[in-house]
Amino acid sequence: MAIYSICAVTSFGMESITAQELKALGFDGLRIDNGKVIFSGDEEAIVRCNIWLRTADRILIRVKEFMATDFEELFQGILSIDWGDILPHDSIMHVTGKSVRSRLFSIKDCQSVAKKAIVEAMKRRYHSSIFPETGPLYKIEVALYKDMATINIDTSGPGLHKRGYRQDKGEAPLRETLAAGIVMLSRWSPAHVLSDPFCGSGTIPIEAALIGKNMAPGLKRSFVSERWWQINRKIWKEAREDAQSKINNNNFRILASDIDERVLKTARQNALRAGVSDFISFQRLDFHSFQPKKDSGYIICNPPYGERMGDIKQIEEIYKRLGALYSRLENWSLFVLSPHPDFQRLFGRQADRNRKIYNGKIKCYLYQYLKKQRENG
Ligand SMILES: C[S@@+](CC[C@H](N)C(=O)[O-])C[C@H]1O[C@@H](n2cnc3c(N)ncnc32)[C@H](O)[C@@H]1O
Repeated sequence: MAIYSICAVTSFGMESITAQELKALGFDGLRIDNGKVIFSGDEEAIVRCNIWLRTADRILIRVKEFMATDFEELFQGILSIDWGDILPHDSIMHVTGKSVRSRLFSIKDCQSVAKKAIVEAMKRRYHSSIFPETGPLYKIEVALYKDMATINIDTSGPGLHKRGYRQDKGEAPLRETLAAGIVMLSRWSPAHVLSDPFCGSGTIPIEAALIGKNMAPGLKRSFVSERWWQINRKIWKEAREDAQSKINNNNFRILASDIDERVLKTARQNALRAGVSDFISFQRLDFHSFQPKKDSGYIICNPPYGERMGDIKQIEEIYKRLGALYSRLENWSLFVLSPHPDFQRLFGRQADRNRKIYNGKIKCYLYQYLKKQRENG
């Protein structure tokens, strides 16, 4: 097997959780950078990361890094890669680009220079100038950061947040990868009750149930690199069988409620598709009427954001009422994701911990109110 430099792309703020997942899968020598974790591994590592990582957005192979301050350097750097060893004659070559604080800033031009260099390398290797592009897809990314060009190949295809269960979305749904990360940050385990009183399309409860059952998030989807010659089909098959065998018999109940019956219908369908509907109780409920039977547990939620003008008063009222609700739930821990700069004041108390997390481009904080801290304080 070959050894690759692998990059697990993740959200800003989630890097340590992705690294924790990689360690649990048995990888070491991890290098954490902004929005990514880099490590070495073989084909099996690529397959297992795609199938198992809950918080990574995609898995890339890093082919080469070099300085490129002009188009000639970019062309030569890409031409020097053994593309003929990577791409079959009939591969579909899809080149994407991004540039941050670099002299080469025109993404369109970088893409076209990169494609020319790849085709030139292929011509030399295959002694042919016709490439039918009817075979497997290879998505090649040219990423420039401070004049350093990194050439990556995407092994995932559609982003890893696309687990396959969410076909209908509620309003402002949370990314599946982020929801899983927040549940992992909370350290919830199936021995405890978990409730999301603003469940929307059900992302947090569904991701928690997948964690509780140890179900691999990528078990029900396909990946672009499944069609590559580099990765033997047997590796995919065995990794899927292994993941299937690791689903546990845990029995637990997650409470998911929302005020909107329409989104609850979507959430129920999503849970069914994810294979976890037996573990989640959905209920139409105004969060203020939440009255748990258990005297301890975890609340994990992202209440409405109020991105539309005019909503903000209503949102602030929700935060105040959430604070009042929490003061009645003595032994519960609460995790709230919010972009509101004044959340803690409106809620009525300082969080025991908070953590900056990006929900797409929106800067949020995960405010963490911990049961133990309350007992001590
Ligand atoms: C930001 S969305 C949650 C998105 C959800 N995490 C998902 O992934 O789809 C906020 C949700 O709060 C619900 N909501 C608004 N006011 C509520 C209230 N008073 N009680 C319960 N739910 C409420 C909305 O219907 C909406 O589904």
